[in-house]
Formats: sequence, structure tokens, C-alpha cells
Amino acid sequence: MKAIKFGVVVLTAFLLINSQNSVAGEQPAQSSLKASIARGKELYLVQCLACHQVDGGGVPHLNAPLDGSANVKGIDKAKLIKIVLNGLKGEEIEGENYSNVMAPHKELTDQQIADILTYVRNAWSNKASQVTVAEVKTVRAKLK
Ligand code: HEC
Repeated sequence: MKAIKFGVVVLTAFLLINSQNSVAGEQPAQSSLKASIARGKELYLVQCLACHQVDGGGVPHLNAPLDGSANVKGIDKAKLIKIVLNGLKGEEIEGENYSNVMAPHKELTDQQIADILTYVRNAWSNKASQVTVAEVKTVRAKLK
């Protein structure tokens, strides 16, 4: 009887450890991307929505759209990070001019900027790779 109980305990422990391993080991990159997008969305609503709008469409001649923007989806993540840190004004974007001024957002943490940019790169029709805290840190260090 004792041996059977012991066997059940060992088997249960084995199954538990195994199931935890497969949950944790399956898609860590996936779930951290998801979490970053979720945090970024919350921040976008507070920091960016007033100008770039809930649908990322911006406002014609006033605020640039982020949805469908080649820069936003592009491989030059450093450029995007710089825009958030330093702001932007008087820049012609895809043949358009925007009269509003985007203020710098240096007060945001590296994590917050990484999350916001990961969100805008994966919101609406956009689909692009994650922006990491390390990438933001590198760009910020170069600006100083
Ligand atoms: C006060 C309004 C305002 C706010 C708030 C704002 N932006 Fe902007 N943003 C602009 C304007 C205006 C431009 C275009 C500037 C230009 O043409 O020089 C722009 C341009 C951009 C671009 C470049 C787009 C492209 O296609 O090259 C990115 C990326 C961007 N903003 C991201 C953000 C993010 C992320 C936030 C929130 C952290 C944010 N902006 C907050 C007004 C704003």
C-alpha cells in the first residue's frame, strides 16, 4: 500500500513538473511579445492617441499616420526610437507635410518606449518585429 502511494506521489510530481516545463518552454518569445503589445497599447492611449488617433490614422496635414507607415513598420528601429525620444517637426513623410509638432518623450523609460513601439509596429494593419529595451537603451545612450 505504501509503495503504491509513493508511486502515485512520484508520478503526480513527474506530471506536474513536465506540464510546467512544456507551458513555460513552449513559446516564451510569443507571450513576451503579447505582453509588450498589451502594455504598449495602454501607454499609447495616454501618450500618443491625442495626435495619432485610436486607429493610427493621424490627422490629415496635422499629425502623421502610424498605420501603414513604411517607417513605423521598417527595419530601422533606431530611427523610430529617436523620433519618440527627440520628437519630430517639419519633416516630410512619404510626400506629406504635417503642421503639428511632436514633442520629445525622453521622460518615458526604455521599457515604456519599447512597449509603445512594439505596439504601434503590431497594431492596425502593421506587422513587424518587437522593439527591445536593449535597443532603446543603445539609442538613448548615443543621443546623450
Ligand atoms: C502633439 C501631437 C503628437 C503626439 C502626442 C505624438 N506625436 Fe508622433 N507625430 C506627430 C506629428 C505632427 C508627426 C509628424 C512630424 C513631422 O512631419 O515632422 C509625428 C510623427 C511620428 C512618427 C513618424 C511617422 C513616420 O511615418 O515616419 C512616429 C513613429 C511617431 N510620431 C510616433 C509617436 C508615438 C509612439 C507617440 C507617443 C509616444 C507620439 N508619436 C506622440 C505628433 C504627435
